[in-house]
Amino acid sequence: MSVITDVGVRAQFPAAENLLYLDAAHQTPLATSVRAGLDAFYDQALRTAGPKRDWLTRVEEVRGQLARFIGVNADEVAFTKNTSEGLNVAAHGVRWERGDNVLLLEGEHPNNAYAWLSQRPQGLEVRLVPEDKKWADADTFAPYVDERTRAIAVSHVMFHSGQRNDVAAVTAFAQRRGIEVIVDAMQSVGVLNVDARALGVSALASGCHKGLLVPQGLGFLYSPHDAERLPPTYVALAGVANSRSSLVAGPEPVHLYPGARRFEIGNFNLPAIHGLGASLALIESIGIDRIERHVLCLGDQLIDGLNALDIPLVGPIERGHRSHIYVLDLPGPFWPELFAAENVRLSPVRDGIRVSFGLYNTSDDVDRFVDILRRGRKRQGTH
Ligand SMILES: Cc1ncc(COP(=O)(O)O)c(C=O)c1O
Repeated sequence: MSVITDVGVRAQFPAAENLLYLDAAHQTPLATSVRAGLDAFYDQALRTAGPKRDWLTRVEEVRGQLARFIGVNADEVAFTKNTSEGLNVAAHGVRWERGDNVLLLEGEHPNNAYAWLSQRPQGLEVRLVPEDKKWADADTFAPYVDERTRAIAVSHVMFHSGQRNDVAAVTAFAQRRGIEVIVDAMQSVGVLNVDARALGVSALASGCHKGLLVPQGLGFLYSPHDAERLPPTYVALAGVANSRSSLVAGPEPVHLYPGARRFEIGNFNLPAIHGLGASLALIESIGIDRIERHVLCLGDQLIDGLNALDIPLVGPIERGHRSHIYVLDLPGPFWPELFAAENVRLSPVRDGIRVSFGLYNTSDDVDRFVDILRRGRKRQGTH
């Protein structure tokens, strides 16, 4: 059953009309209103070379919009290039001494894992935590924590299984022990209701090209902590509070902006930020809770279809532990070939075939996909 039935929403995504698009976890198709946001920037650039002052005003408006969307203050949000940049800033900002450790789940996204693994030569121990069940919570990490544990770095939703980790439980456990929790929210922001303050994280990073519907090249980092707790990795004019109006960098001590702006370097991705303003408006016009229910309902429908065909799911079945991502245990080259021939866009991932929904998908899309699975099963049976 679809929760979002407005034809106007689907009509904004021509790619979802042209293909059976089940690949939101890879990237979402461009919406016409987001394209209009990008065009507004390009038109101004073309006609007037744009007063940069106006564009920077727009940056601050969109920063405020984004901050409200994730339940935090504007001065706690920095724009970045992508998730990896935000995670690296956080991973290199956490203070640790030789012999301290950080915990990651086995199978974490490499863009999260490498930010920490690369620090091992300096003496950081990275503990890879096995998962005893299909999602992670405080009990998953607790046996691996000791007095030298400085951070837990975890994805909110995992890209290879769709499991929704219980970040609030992990932070509640970690805060009591003075452990920082750094969250990769690339797969959840814009799809699930992410309230970063309520989650209690030390930092949360995401890109904008999946649930936030903007083309690649824009991300953000949320952190409520000041430079004492999370200093920036690199510093440029954008992060310096006491730069001179002459733009001569003098010998005086460098004072950083107290908020997340200290993490920002150089010029912004102005077109993408204009696009983000439009995409947040679109998402908010529908409502993030509705989008979350929508993708979970499409998931219910898919699971019914899979059960009827005896196709196992790699990730959790329980509604509270899943998301918009469903990985089907369908081994072999037969299935990717069939999906390509049927004009279905999805992603083979390490444990199976990943189907992922967005606000533009409909109940009919799921029916069509299950029908392709049924025909595939039949053909396999006749081989
Ligand atoms: C969990 C997760 N983190 C990060 C990324 C991407 O990182 P970046 O935004 O740096 O390209 C992806 C997928 O592309 C992802 O699934």
